[in-house]
Amino acid sequence: MYDFKITTSDTGTLYRDLASALEGLVAGEPDPIANMANAAALIWESLPDLNWAGFYRNVGGELVLGPFQGRPACIRIPFGQGVCGAAAATLEVQRVDDVHAFPGHIACDAASVSELVVPIVRDGQLLAVLDLDSPNAARFTEEDEAGCLKLAELLARSL
Ligand code: SME
Repeated sequence: MYDFKITTSDTGTLYRDLASALEGLVAGEPDPIANMANAAALIWESLPDLNWAGFYRNVGGELVLGPFQGRPACIRIPFGQGVCGAAAATLEVQRVDDVHAFPGHIACDAASVSELVVPIVRDGQLLAVLDLDSPNAARFTEEDEAGCLKLAELLARSL
């Protein structure tokens, strides 16, 4: 049984605990879908104020829905479209305080207001993006961005 209960009001500690829990979960497991599924569940359980947490995978130059928690979502996103597509095309983190102001934002869940998308890259190749959505405006801070970049680095070795 896995029993990771991560509760802290300090964001730095939260992400450190999250990273070590994730490291434990993916250790020795080579299957990328299994690792993304556990990562999505762990993030969903640990981070407050999310309405969606999961992955889009790079499948032949197109983003295809991967393991996630939250409501059913758009299945395919071309590179360059929406927040996830922008992260995939630029390989840069997209931290958006209000998605309604983001040109081309794809509204999978009408409840989403802010979004953080982190590319997962190995040897210069995009493997997937980690996508977090929140119903709160400006939910994601620089600390969330730094913490999720660490998680993405860790996952890049396990996908
Ligand atoms: N809003 C995203 C699409 C994915 S969902 O949020 C799960 C976007 O614009 O890329």
